[in-house]
Amino acid sequence: MNVDVLLGLQWGDEGKGKIVDVLTPQYDLVARFQGGPNAGHTIEFEGKKFVLHTIPSGIFNPDAINLIGNGVIIDPVILQREMVKLRQSGTEIGANLFVSRKAHLILPSHRLLDAASEKAKGESKIGSTLKGIGPTYTDKISRNGLRVGDISSASFFEKYTELKERHLQLVGLHNFDFSEYLIDGLRFDAYEEQWMNAVKLLNDMQLVDSEYFINDMARKGKRILAEGAQGTLLDVDFGSYPFVTSSNTTIAGVCSGLGIAPNKIGKVIGIFKAYCTRVGSGPFPTELFDTTGEMLRSKGNEFGSTTGRARRCGWLDMPALQYAIMLNGVTELIMMKADVMDELPTIKVATAYNVNNQVIDHIPFEGCTQQLDPVYEELQGWMKPLTHVAQKEDVPKAFEEYIQYIERKTNVPVSVVSTGPDRSQTWYRKT
Ligand code: GDP
Ligand code: IMO
Ligand code: MG
Repeated sequence: MNVDVLLGLQWGDEGKGKIVDVLTPQYDLVARFQGGPNAGHTIEFEGKKFVLHTIPSGIFNPDAINLIGNGVIIDPVILQREMVKLRQSGTEIGANLFVSRKAHLILPSHRLLDAASEKAKGESKIGSTLKGIGPTYTDKISRNGLRVGDISSASFFEKYTELKERHLQLVGLHNFDFSEYLIDGLRFDAYEEQWMNAVKLLNDMQLVDSEYFINDMARKGKRILAEGAQGTLLDVDFGSYPFVTSSNTTIAGVCSGLGIAPNKIGKVIGIFKAYCTRVGSGPFPTELFDTTGEMLRSKGNEFGSTTGRARRCGWLDMPALQYAIMLNGVTELIMMKADVMDELPTIKVATAYNVNNQVIDHIPFEGCTQQLDPVYEELQGWMKPLTHVAQKEDVPKAFEEYIQYIERKTNVPVSVVSTGPDRSQTWYRKT
């Protein structure tokens, strides 16, 4: 039972990067198990700020090893750029980073397909990050994908070309003219050239049969933290389908994305914001379109870490949080960003939905097609700055009541409270 898991309970961007970094000193290995560069995990310390897309958030702790698991999909260009940036800032990457041979590769043409598919969807687009996530996982499941371990094979280039040609045909079927389309500012050919170079560098990294690697470490008693990307409500099975990502962001993703058996899993740490945000399309029952929503966005700096898009903001959604806790078997909660609500005299929490004049407290199958009107409870705001809260004595009474209200509603203890983006702005409530 030495694999703990940290995963998001909302629509992503809960603050996973910050907390993984904070918790890493307690672990020997940090492993990403799903998602790809659609993720943007922000870490701040000593006046520096980093955003990680593919590399696990344990990388800033010199004593930890990091693993990019088989369930992750990798764009070699993005990975290389990330490594260059980190090295420029003095972060060591080398012996401390391992990559699964079974992780799938995002090809430049996957990114074209993503763009073509979103364009074809028009008004009903997903709001994808356009990093090629959907098409790459599609190829994985349809058994056409290329994996990191294939790079060293003599037929790699041939297989690459075959797959690319197939993608370009599909792009053509979407009537998508990619001659002018820019991938991260580059035309297709230029991006492809960078990709080929990055693939060679990836092949020189420490590639491992990650399921053996991680189980060996577990057997030796090493402490392991699995780091989720995205959030439960974006899970391909349980999220607001089709407005989801293409992987299992929930606990099952740890088993399939790392080769970890369920009985090895220890703590399941669920992380959530004291309010809600969502970036991209899809239902968001508690979304605010007023000045409170604008305040959450500006004070919370709610702009995507990967795409820079403004995040939609709203009140905490309790049925959604309870659903996420149920699906993941969460054993402890970490609450983020309550400091953003410091100046609100009243705080609302949705405890049920009104659907066609019927009050329900679960997420209905029709959640994407029916209007869910939130039923709110109102709580008193604390009206005091939380930023420097580090111990119980500093905690405003109304804030403690807000936390206890969440604990009662979820039946799970809130163990850590984050009150600012920096590593140091973390209050260990229960240890
Ligand atoms: P992730 O994808 O779950 O790692 O989250 P992101 O990094 O995309 O978004 C979280 C944002 O909130 C980042 O800009 C963090 O620096 C910031 N952040 C994290 N925790 C806190 C907090 O407790 N308070 C405030 N104000 N900002 C926070
Ligand atoms: P982290 O790990 C927030 C959203 C996109 C879009 C949908 C599908 O930083 O929490 P995709 O690119 O996967 O095809 O997009 O999922 N999305 C995220 N939203 N945080 C993320 O990651 C996300 N990764 C994907 O905005 O709505
Ligand atoms: Mg993010």
